[in-house]
Amino acid sequence: MVREWDPRTASSAEIVSLLDTLNAVLAVDLPQDPPWRESSLREYLAEVMPGERRISWVAQAEPATDGTPGSLLGQVNVLLLGNIGVLEVLVHPSARRTGLGRDLVLRAARRVYQEGFESIGVEVVGDTPAIAFYESLGFSREYVETRSVLDLSGVDWAELAEMSTGVGAGYHVEFHPGGPPDELIEAYARAKAEIRDIEDGELRPSSYDSQRLRDSLDCLHRRGMKPYIVLALHEQSGEVAGLTEVVVPAQHPTRADQYDTIVVQDHRGYGIDRAIKARMLMELRSAEPQLTEVQTWNAQANEAMLKVNAELGYRPDRDWCEYSVDVADLVHRLDNSR
Ligand SMILES: CC(C)(COP(=O)(O)OP(=O)(O)OC[C@H]1O[C@@H](n2cnc3c(N)ncnc32)[C@H](O)[C@@H]1OP(=O)(O)O)[C@@H](O)C(=O)NCCC(=O)NCCS
Repeated sequence: MVREWDPRTASSAEIVSLLDTLNAVLAVDLPQDPPWRESSLREYLAEVMPGERRISWVAQAEPATDGTPGSLLGQVNVLLLGNIGVLEVLVHPSARRTGLGRDLVLRAARRVYQEGFESIGVEVVGDTPAIAFYESLGFSREYVETRSVLDLSGVDWAELAEMSTGVGAGYHVEFHPGGPPDELIEAYARAKAEIRDIEDGELRPSSYDSQRLRDSLDCLHRRGMKPYIVLALHEQSGEVAGLTEVVVPAQHPTRADQYDTIVVQDHRGYGIDRAIKARMLMELRSAEPQLTEVQTWNAQANEAMLKVNAELGYRPDRDWCEYSVDVADLVHRLDNSR
């Protein structure tokens, strides 16, 4: 049975059941990824940025003979933002290839269509069944990034300490757990407007103005995701010349996520990228002692950043693909194939 589902009011048993399904999916599709924990999972599923909405549906197994509710075997959620609906679909490995994934997508696509959105986007992990799934539904591949993972146990910390000081004269590197300080928010947002070197997928827009930046930091905190920031200040102008952001999620605190790294155009060529990333890793080592890995996503064309990441010890892991589809076409196709 597929039904609309609200994580804010769901029972704890449902949250745990969804976690079990997510971890069963990870064990089969991404066995090197750490399993997720229950910590702040409800908030992770429920909290959104102002102006965005997330709508979810779950597929629940039949109740047991003693009346115990069935487990959640699948989930779809769609985040409505801008002019696009961003989809996430999960089906428990034991329930796959029965048409459940297709049903869940249809349910979400109909709503996205009714809400007047034109397209649906989805991030799809390379070398998993999801590629064949979305291609069978007529989604087309727009963009491919490479995910790379750094194993902190292999890091040469002495070398990293040296890298972290290798920034040109006239720059000052600072570490800010929790987010940039208030007095730097405006300068930080200006640097974020420099989008050429973003390490982020297009489905995760950066925060270009200071209010959106504040909102996005608040949202991260509410979702149980702790941001850490290292920035390079240009001493003469007081401008933020470069920044790097890492988030440690309560749901998988042993593997952190690298978010944006930006070096503003005028400040390139002074070793800022390498220095701020090295400093970040050193700070994380003491701030988050349980951390064992950091993962990052890069455009394949971004050779400069891939080179620095390789020097730091990141190893390419998987393709991370962005697919999209016209909503009206998708609904029409799925309705006709039933
Ligand atoms: C992708 C996913 C949702 C598919 O769910 P599903 O219920 O098995 O999909 P369906 O049964 O509706 O399949 C629909 C069509 O997709 C295609 N498809 C699905 N899985 C496939 C596979 N393993 N190989 C080839 N084609 C496949 C087929 O064309 C299938 O139709 P068919 O069974 O009639 O041939 C499921 O595999 C999943 O949850 N994957 C994890 C997704 C994810 O987000 N992971 C993130 C962390 S890894």
